[in-house]
Amino acid sequence: MDRSTFILSILLTLTATTTTFFSPVYAGTFDMEFDITWGDGRGKVLNNGELLTLSLDRASGSGFQSKKEYLFGKIDMQLKLVPGNSAGTVTAYYLKSKGDTWDEIDFEFLGNLTGDPYVMHTNVYNQGKGDREQQFNLWFDPTADFHTYSVLWNPHHIVFLVDGIAIRQFKNLEHRGIQYPKLQPMRLYSSLWNADQWATRGGLVKTDWSNAPFTASYRNFRADACVSFAGKSSCPASSPRWFTQKLDLTAEDKMRVVQSKFMVYNYCTDTKRFPQGVPKECNIH
Ligand SMILES: *[C@@H]1O[C@H](CO)[C@@H](O)[C@H](O)[C@H]1NC(C)=O
Repeated sequence: MDRSTFILSILLTLTATTTTFFSPVYAGTFDMEFDITWGDGRGKVLNNGELLTLSLDRASGSGFQSKKEYLFGKIDMQLKLVPGNSAGTVTAYYLKSKGDTWDEIDFEFLGNLTGDPYVMHTNVYNQGKGDREQQFNLWFDPTADFHTYSVLWNPHHIVFLVDGIAIRQFKNLEHRGIQYPKLQPMRLYSSLWNADQWATRGGLVKTDWSNAPFTASYRNFRADACVSFAGKSSCPASSPRWFTQKLDLTAEDKMRVVQSKFMVYNYCTDTKRFPQGVPKECNIH
């Protein structure tokens, strides 16, 4: 790795450590917090509820969803992605509300051939409309170890974080006429499935089923969130820090560094795709 990447990785490690240290833990076991919803036994809760694994083979993938619905929160999960030749596999990890005009906050990890980088895909949907893709390479091998992927969703913004580092921010710009998800509670979902028609190099590299089953692992789920039930939302008693949290200048600077080094696709700069002009939020800073 070159010198600036090295300095960046030290910076990133330090931030990750301090963030973990100061945040209160609201962690439940996977049995308490999630239901495995499909995959006919391919999703498993292990180690007294502290570990969850999803697997994928030629016959099926698998997935799980949170028992609770959230309306704003800071949600963390550690994931270790499918190692080796994971081409054609997709590990999706997202928050989503119900219905035809749903809101959604997405992480998707697109597998690759051994040694080639995963692509981390992100998106934000309002009322069923997405088209806000940003994709990143990661500054570590996401299959070698667990890393924390988080969503901070409050009335000011949605922030995507990796190991405590903000990598993307979608601001609430309602005052500028841009819709912002704030009324529909969302559930947390994850799934491991096959998408070799498009996932790796745009579908050129197919899944090698001789490597199946493919497995992704999850641990240390933590939701510091307002929980929504029967139309009512209840937030943690003392006004939580994440509810009003904005990115400070250091975090914004760091985000810009990560974006300049690791972002590989940005809808905001895709003028071919938006010949009439990129979406309005792209020009507001
Ligand atoms: C896989 O690796 C190739 C070669 O480095 C790269 O172009 C591609 O973006 C990577 N990721 C995916 C999901 O195709």
